[in-house]
Amino acid sequence: MATPWWTRAAIYQVYPRSFRDLNGDGTGDLRGIVSELPYIAALGVDAVWLSPFYPSPQRDSGYDVADPRAVDPIYGTIEDARELIAQAHARALRVIVDVVPNHSSSERAWFQEALRSEPGSPERARYHFLDGRGLAGDQPPTNWTSWFGGGAWTRVVELDGRPGQWYLHTFDESQPDLNWSNPEVRADGLETLRFWLDMGADGFRVDVALGLAKDMSYPDIDDPESLTLAMRMDLDDGSVDAMNRRRKVANSAVLDRDEVQDVYREWRQVMDEYDGDRMAVAEAWVPPERAARYVAPDTLHQIFNFDFMAAPWDAVRVRGVIEKTMASLSYVGAPPTWALSNHDTPRVVSRLGGGPLGLRRARAMALIAHALPGAVYVYQGEELGLSDALLPDSARQDPVFFRTGGAQLGRDGARVPVPWSGSEPPYGFSDGSLPTWLPQPTDWAAFTVEGEIADPNSALHQYRATLRLRAAHPGLVDQQAFVLPEAPEGVLVLERGAGLRCVVNFTDEAVTSPVSGRVLVASDASVMVEGDRVTLPPSTGAWLQT
Ligand code: NOJ
Repeated sequence: MATPWWTRAAIYQVYPRSFRDLNGDGTGDLRGIVSELPYIAALGVDAVWLSPFYPSPQRDSGYDVADPRAVDPIYGTIEDARELIAQAHARALRVIVDVVPNHSSSERAWFQEALRSEPGSPERARYHFLDGRGLAGDQPPTNWTSWFGGGAWTRVVELDGRPGQWYLHTFDESQPDLNWSNPEVRADGLETLRFWLDMGADGFRVDVALGLAKDMSYPDIDDPESLTLAMRMDLDDGSVDAMNRRRKVANSAVLDRDEVQDVYREWRQVMDEYDGDRMAVAEAWVPPERAARYVAPDTLHQIFNFDFMAAPWDAVRVRGVIEKTMASLSYVGAPPTWALSNHDTPRVVSRLGGGPLGLRRARAMALIAHALPGAVYVYQGEELGLSDALLPDSARQDPVFFRTGGAQLGRDGARVPVPWSGSEPPYGFSDGSLPTWLPQPTDWAAFTVEGEIADPNSALHQYRATLRLRAAHPGLVDQQAFVLPEAPEGVLVLERGAGLRCVVNFTDEAVTSPVSGRVLVASDASVMVEGDRVTLPPSTGAWLQT
C-alpha cells in the first residue's frame, strides 16, 4: 500500500493577508492566491497551508476567529474558498486550512452572548469565566500569564454595570479561551472540521494544539512568567536553557495536558470517515519526550518541529536536533516535520545573522531541511530569501508589540507582503491604489519573484530544484533510507538512498567535501567541482549524486 501523501509532503504556507492582493485594498485575498497557484505548483510542493481567512476583527491577524465556518469579506467569499480548493486540486495541490480551537474572537456571537448572560449560565460555560479573588473579587482568579505578555485574565462589567467575573485569555484579551470540557464546544469543533472536510480540505493545521485542556481546579502555577518566556521564539537559541524553560510549562495546569488528546481522538475518528488521507498537523511546541502523544495512530498526524526551527548555525546542534526528532517520533511511527520559519518567527535569513551572511546560511540550511525524511514546510517568501522587514513602530499591528509596551517588537517583520515584480513597493503585490497593510522595504527589488526567476543562481531556483527533486528522486522518495554519517568538524553530511547526499559547511573556512559526486544543487554559485573534488566555501552546501 502506498504511504499517505502527508508522510513525505512539501507544504507551502500561505499567509493570506500578505500573499497577493487582487482587489487593490492593500490586503491579500483568496482570489489573489488562486491567481498565483501556478507559481506555487511550479515550486514543486504537494500542498498549501492557508493561515486563517475567517471573519475576524483582525486583532491578531485572523487568529481571532469570529466565525470558524465562513470567510472574512476582506479575503473574499465562501465561493472564493470553494474555487481556491477546486483550482488547487486541479493542479494536484492539496489544501490544509488552519483551525483555531483554543480561543475565539471576543466578537464571536458566543462570547457576546456570554457577556450578556449571568455568571454560571450555559453561555458562560463555553469559556472560562471565574469569580476573582480577594474580598471584592478584584484579583484575577489565577496567576497565569498571557503568551503575549501581561496577565491572562480580564474582568468584565456585568449587566447591572458592576465589575464582575473574569475570563481567561491565553493570548490577547480579544481572544477568550474556549472551554473544551464543554460538550457543546466539542461538538462545535467537530462541526467546523466537517464543514471544511466537506468543502474538500485535505487537512488542518491545529493552532495552539497544546492548549485546549486546562486544569479546571484553576491552581496557581510556579513561576508564572515562565509561561510567557517558554513560548518566545525570539529567546530560543536552541540551548538547554531554552528547552528547560519549555519543560517547565509542558504538562502543566495550562499547557500540554494529557486530556487534550481526548479531543484529538474524536477528531481523528471524524477525519478517518473521509476518504483521501485527510490529515492534521499540531502546532505544539513541546519537548521531544512529549511530542509522540500528538501523533499517535489515534490522535493527529504530524507535529511541528520547533526545535529544528530554533536550531542555531552549528553543525553539532543541528545534527543533535535531527537525531532527537527522529528518535522521539519513531516509536509511534509518525513522520517528522521540518520548517525553517513561519509567520510567528523571525525569517530564517534574519535569525541566522541577517544580510548576505544570513542568506548564505539560510540557503544552506534549506538544503538540509529539504533532504530530510518526513514532511517539510516552506513559509511564503522563504524561497525568495527574504529577511525580516524593519518597520516603523507606527506601522506595527501585532498585539505582542502593544501588550509588552513595545518591549518586544512582535512578528510583523516576518509578515510583510510578498514582492512579485518591479523595482518599488508594492512590487506587484497589489495595484497600489491603497497602501499595503504593512509597508514593504524599499530595497526588495532584488528579491522579487520576477527578478529571481531571471537569475539562475537565486534562492528561488534553489528551492525549485530541491523541492522538485524531493518529489522525484528515488533516494528522497524512499523514507527508510536515511543515515547521518560521521563528518569532519563543522560539516554535516546527510545520506539518503540511491546515492543522494547533502553536505553543508558550517565553518568560516572553505572545506573539501568529505563526499564527492555530481552536484545536483548548490546553495551558492561559488561551490566548486574539480574532478572528484568538491570545494565548499564558508556557509555553503550542495546536494551530490554519488
Ligand atoms: C499561533 C499562531 O500561529 C499565532 O500567529 C497566533 O498569534 C497564536 N497561535 C494565537 O492564535
